[in-house]
Amino acid sequence: MNVLALETTCDETAAAVVTGDLTVRSSVVASQDKLHERFSGVVPEIAARAHVERILPVIDEALRRANVGLQDIDAVAVANTPGLAGSLLVGLVAAKALCVAVGKPLVAVNHVHAHIYACRMASGKNVFPCVGLVVSGGHSNLYRCEAPYDFRYLGGTIDDAAGEAFDKVAAMLGLPYPGGPAVSRVAQQGSRTAYRFPRSFLNDDSRFDFSFSGLKTAVRYTIAGKGNPELQKCELPDSQVSDIAASFQEAVVDCLVGKALLAARRTGLPTLCVGGGVAANGRLRQRLADETQRAGVELHIAPLHLCTDNAVMGALAVERLKAGLTEDLTLDVFPGLLRS
Ligand code: KG4
Ligand code: ZN
Repeated sequence: MNVLALETTCDETAAAVVTGDLTVRSSVVASQDKLHERFSGVVPEIAARAHVERILPVIDEALRRANVGLQDIDAVAVANTPGLAGSLLVGLVAAKALCVAVGKPLVAVNHVHAHIYACRMASGKNVFPCVGLVVSGGHSNLYRCEAPYDFRYLGGTIDDAAGEAFDKVAAMLGLPYPGGPAVSRVAQQGSRTAYRFPRSFLNDDSRFDFSFSGLKTAVRYTIAGKGNPELQKCELPDSQVSDIAASFQEAVVDCLVGKALLAARRTGLPTLCVGGGVAANGRLRQRLADETQRAGVELHIAPLHLCTDNAVMGALAVERLKAGLTEDLTLDVFPGLLRS
């Protein structure tokens, strides 16, 4: 069995061919980072138009590298939630057209669930049931994952996602987009304790939610001074940029690790799976490894190439297909987060 998976939820156009036994036959990712760089963030209209230009060449290349033709595809999978509406629509319309052309079923993939499923793909073994932590540019969520098609929402960010906070803080510090890699690079030279930034909800044992907007504001006040909106006029020495980056990163990591371990304790689940772009962060990976080991929790973090958006994680569709979970052509996009 061959499943063609498409991913266009944000600013990466991706396609992969995976088999029924979860072998990856090909994976192609066309990044749009260069197009959005000068805006320090993803511009939805630019992203949607770029997906339109790239989706067919990316699919062609994925089929070519897998050495299969369209006639060899048994199902088409597409991430239809959550994401940018215009971006999601490009993938969904392409997937529907292919399903009609080849007469094969359509499978819907929840993009944030797929970020956790990247751990299953990388580990080569069953990771369910587990606690799932997704930390990406758009989402910071915790799930109780009973099975690949049974994710229960435990909590998530009530304002900014961790990745968004990284991107915004990078912009405030004059660092390039995407901000996560840039902040973590300069943080290596900084002190994690130079500034005591807020850790929201960490002391509240009853909730699995996150909040990063207060932290973002605290960084802004540190750079510009309270009540001063003129960030452009702030010329910080490199050492201060590094200290702010390291202290900010430590605050984010404290919240993510603290809540993920709390979820593991509360649910009694023995395994923690972590995915999404921010899971590429070296300090987060190190702290997760140390603290899950101390807590006796088995840890799976997506490998770097499966942390940021890709279509391999869309192999989640193989499990849905086997469970008989296919869609008809009325399937729509859902830009917001479905809390289930
Ligand atoms: O999962 P992803 O590719 O896209 C979404 O689904 O949002 O995540 C992108 C996010 C961006 O905010 C980027 O700054 C962040 O992941 N990111 C990182 C690192 N690499 C990427 N954040 C912190 N440290 C990193 N090394
Ligand atoms: Zn993502």
